[in-house]
Amino acid sequence: MAEINVKPYDVVILGASGFTGKYVVREALKFLNTPDSPLKSLALAGRSPSRLSHALQWAGGPKQAQGIPLLCADTSDPDSLDRLASQARIVLNCVGPYRLHGQPEVAACVESGCDYLDICGELEFMERMEATYHDEAVKNGSLLVSACGFDTVAAEMGMLFHSSYWAGASAPSRVEAYLSLESDRRIGANYATYESAVLGVANADKLAELRRSSRRRPLPKVI
Ligand SMILES: NC(=O)c1ccc[n+]([C@@H]2O[C@H](COP(=O)([O-])OP(=O)(O)OC[C@H]3O[C@@H](n4cnc5c(N)ncnc54)[C@H](OP(=O)(O)O)[C@@H]3O)[C@@H](O)[C@H]2O)c1
Repeated sequence: MAEINVKPYDVVILGASGFTGKYVVREALKFLNTPDSPLKSLALAGRSPSRLSHALQWAGGPKQAQGIPLLCADTSDPDSLDRLASQARIVLNCVGPYRLHGQPEVAACVESGCDYLDICGELEFMERMEATYHDEAVKNGSLLVSACGFDTVAAEMGMLFHSSYWAGASAPSRVEAYLSLESDRRIGANYATYESAVLGVANADKLAELRRSSRRRPLPKVI
């Protein structure tokens, strides 16, 4: 008889104490145990229980914070990531820059068949993870989804909206997108985002090299 693998947490948010992580916690709490929501159990993970606890209080206040487990995990400690992946159905990874911190968590999720989702905007990381882990992820039933953050979702939604106006069966050969932000409040980016961008530019040759290499799977052909 097949072993039923029951994981204690539907979702674990790794890097929940970060600038972005705490907003992810705040949104997740809105769905936790609400009627019709599949999110029935949530845990936060990171290096520092006190910073996680602080983020949880910020996101949900004392009442909602009660009973949410805080798990210790460090991206430089593979055992801690394995423990995390073995307890979660989905890990939401908010620890960046992903080129520095992401791969061990992807590896742990793939190994345990856990689903992985992040807010990465770093092309080389995303393409390298696909090239490295796609086959094993398929074999183990692990879904790896990157680029669920603002700088990619807005572009995807713009593209979907635009495509609804295309006549007949059309396929673009190239898409250029422009985004304009208006707000009364100051719009800024945190240091990790800046660092991710700088490292991306500094390592542009590695992305080009990866794209030339045979490790990269060919993109599906548009017929
Ligand atoms: N795509 C988008 O639109 C979008 C938007 C926002 C952010 N991002 C990306 O998201 C990432 C995070 O950005 P952020 O501004 O939220 O960064 P941040 O405020 O510096 O937060 C980083 C988080 O990672 C944790 N962390 C750092 N090193 C760790 C390690 N070795 N092991 C475990 N946890 C570790 C930190 O925990 P501690 O509390 O222990 O330091 C913190 O919780 C960046 O890569 C950024 O580019 C993308």
